[in-house]
Amino acid sequence: MKEANYDESLIVEFTLPDVLECLNGKKIDNAFDWVHLRRPEILDIFKKEIFGYLPHRTDKTEYEVLSVKEDALNNTAIRKEIRLTFSMNNGKSHSFVMLLYIPKNAKKPVPVYLGLNFKGNHNCTAEQDVLMTGRKSDGSLADEERSSQTYRWQFEESVKRGFASATVCYHDIHPDEKEADSWRKSIYNLFFSAESDEEFHTHGSAISAWAWGLSRMLDCLEAEPLIDCSKAMVHGHSRLGKTSLWAGANDPRFKFVVSNDSGCTGAAVSRRCIGETVEIITHYFPHWFVSSYKNYANRELELPLEQHWLISLIAPRYCCIASAAEDTWADPKGEFLSGAYANDVYKLFGAETYAPDAMPGIDEFLTSAVSYHIRTGKHDQNLIDWQHYWLIGEKVKM
Ligand code: GCU
Repeated sequence: MKEANYDESLIVEFTLPDVLECLNGKKIDNAFDWVHLRRPEILDIFKKEIFGYLPHRTDKTEYEVLSVKEDALNNTAIRKEIRLTFSMNNGKSHSFVMLLYIPKNAKKPVPVYLGLNFKGNHNCTAEQDVLMTGRKSDGSLADEERSSQTYRWQFEESVKRGFASATVCYHDIHPDEKEADSWRKSIYNLFFSAESDEEFHTHGSAISAWAWGLSRMLDCLEAEPLIDCSKAMVHGHSRLGKTSLWAGANDPRFKFVVSNDSGCTGAAVSRRCIGETVEIITHYFPHWFVSSYKNYANRELELPLEQHWLISLIAPRYCCIASAAEDTWADPKGEFLSGAYANDVYKLFGAETYAPDAMPGIDEFLTSAVSYHIRTGKHDQNLIDWQHYWLIGEKVKM
């Protein structure tokens, strides 16, 4: 395997594939044609080449409120834990538990942040009585520790600012495991009766399962009277940043999409081959993608798409691309550039992103329809990132 390159001078010269040129050669020059002709085409290309197909809705969905706490987070929030159960007429079912905080003083429905977590709901909150979630395919908890990543979630500060916030552990939707048969413990198991694991991996991926889960969380929140689902905001860190972009591309109900340090096959321009490459990512994490994606290893210039197309699928909705200065693996500059290149599509709607030479200084927020920052520090999500997400959240509120 080729070692990661960090030297910009070694980037092989490339031209970007044209986001506005349809497969039949037609050049898109207005928002209507983008929405009806080019956008569906691009969505299909991403499905076929990278992320596979999202499952559809199940035959039956049930929401069971497992607990309600009226004085959560130092009496600032109402906390709910809700079990979402999905079943099919063939008798198969799958469920996961969502943790939800709603501002206690909400007088009218409020906007909501949704995100998946890595280590279980109990790990995202300081509250010690939250159910432990996040099971691997053998049924064991992925992480038994409580409260070690509360800074990534900032629940209390979010509710104080008038936002609800919800999370589910990603393992409970699709275990993040490389083993070829782990999809059989995922939500996909309800939809596929693939004879062989290989057949599944031709069409489905963990990232599509997780994106599906985010949309189902939103379905459930639509039944919550104190939540305004026309103001839903999806966020995700790293592999879950790739997921939030994909969820935002597929589900236009997400009015604001946050990519935090999503890097390779997230916001970063693949053709730059800085930091992680297609070869590396498909070697270590084959299950995140359809199996054929690995054929582009060391052939990034032949990809029939580029990652700014993924940002373009979110237009004209708000999108925030966040990088971290020490996260060179994720190629901060490449993440920034995708936002700039997506401008071709945003401007069809009269919206604007930013110029490719406008990279801001560390910890400065560049706010436009696609906004960007590069935060001090390492690959992570913390209070500084949230300060930017709340800023855009205020625009969504209006
Ligand atoms: C690895 C992987 C990245 C991914 C990250 C994460 O570093 O190479 O692509 O974003 O894990 O999800 O934490």
